[in-house]
Amino acid sequence: MFRTHYSNQITPELNGQKIRVAGWVYEVKDLGGIKFVWIRDREGIIQITAPKKKVSEEIFKLIPKLNSEDVVAAEGIVNFTPKAKLGFEIIPEKIIVLSKSESPLPLDPTGKVKAELDTRLDNRFIDLRKPEIMALFRIRSSVFKAVRDFFHQEGFIEIHTPKIIATATEGGTELFPMKYFEKDAFLAQSPQLYKQIMMASGLDKVFEIAPIFRAEEHNTTRHLNEAWSIDAEIAFIEHEDEVMQVLEKLVAYTIGYVKEHNEKELKLLNFELEEPKLPFRRITYTKALEILKDLGKDIPWGEDIDTEGEKILGQYIKETYDEDLYFLTQYPSEAKPFYIMRYDDKPEICRAFDLEYRGIEITSGGQREHRYDILKAQIAEKGLNPESFDFYLKAFRYGMPPHGGFGLGAERLIKQMLNLQNIREVILFPRDRKRLTP
Ligand code: AMO
Repeated sequence: MFRTHYSNQITPELNGQKIRVAGWVYEVKDLGGIKFVWIRDREGIIQITAPKKKVSEEIFKLIPKLNSEDVVAAEGIVNFTPKAKLGFEIIPEKIIVLSKSESPLPLDPTGKVKAELDTRLDNRFIDLRKPEIMALFRIRSSVFKAVRDFFHQEGFIEIHTPKIIATATEGGTELFPMKYFEKDAFLAQSPQLYKQIMMASGLDKVFEIAPIFRAEEHNTTRHLNEAWSIDAEIAFIEHEDEVMQVLEKLVAYTIGYVKEHNEKELKLLNFELEEPKLPFRRITYTKALEILKDLGKDIPWGEDIDTEGEKILGQYIKETYDEDLYFLTQYPSEAKPFYIMRYDDKPEICRAFDLEYRGIEITSGGQREHRYDILKAQIAEKGLNPESFDFYLKAFRYGMPPHGGFGLGAERLIKQMLNLQNIREVILFPRDRKRLTP
């Protein structure tokens, strides 16, 4: 390997030893009798110091010819000295140029020259060379690790369901149609039907982490056309609140994990991450409408709480209780999909919930209707054709336990956790109305 140590692994015990480092040229300085190169790697910066008397003529001549962002590897002796800005330097015995960078660069990797988000996304590989941008993706990596760890600890089994599907789950307008040989097919909006089918298998507690595809019309700061969904489904529940308890534990665990393991990244982002207290507040849909009405926002019962309503509610909860995360529960049945169970004694409301984080929905979920006849009727009532759900309905005819689950949007979670303006910040190559490359 061209590298034996990352910058953060160079500790005083290595003083006087020969090591190899590699990365991108951050800066070059020529003071005549002494030349410097700073190399940036994933973990930080390394200073290479080349005094004329101590290095070969070849190295001495090479350094001034290096350009910003050339990829280099250097072998040399570690020297801990207070004279070096970072506390140590490397006196090079060998420097190899592994790849030259063209100039000018399409984006300033030091971040000194500010760029529009579009320019950054067009040049994502350079954008990530900025430590505070890389920090976002290291946090994202931690989030996925925490989520997987949590589910395994809680006895969940990871499943993988098809992404080419025949039927809409979350409404027809958001589907991406595709040709599947002689048939019409769609990209999956959600693993909803399949994770439910798995409840009839005896796996009991399952999770899936996979992309979902939604032909969202609008270009907003919280919608993507390809997003990552963290889905779970749990059998033998008696009430939707049991699902909510798993979800709130998952979210709190994930936030706690990031706080513990990403101290450096949070510092780079200059962000104080607050760990939420359990349990999260539960507010019924009807109560939420009352609060909104008092605050001057009138939403007729039965309609969805719109973006503005969510925002006002988020501010209210923050100001009143100093809380960022809360559930909205007991939605009107007409506002939620066919697979949600209604209250037997009050069929106009259903066992669906949303989890809100700083005034934005990050999860939907609920207890499902597991009784075949009622489910079939609910499909028809929503104007859908039960026949196209045959493969799904079949699973309800041969022993289907009561069950419930949720879909947690990974990008929404990370965006809201870090209080970022735009969801595109936390996905490497966003797919939106305009973006299909890179
Ligand atoms: P829903 O459609 O509410 O529910 O989606 C669940 C969560 O997925 C995320 N999400 C998105 N994130 C970014 N861009 C999008 N276009 C987008 N669409 C959805 C959100 C949202 O809360 N089957 C149900 C879940 C369930 O009941 O288990 C469903 O898909 O964070």
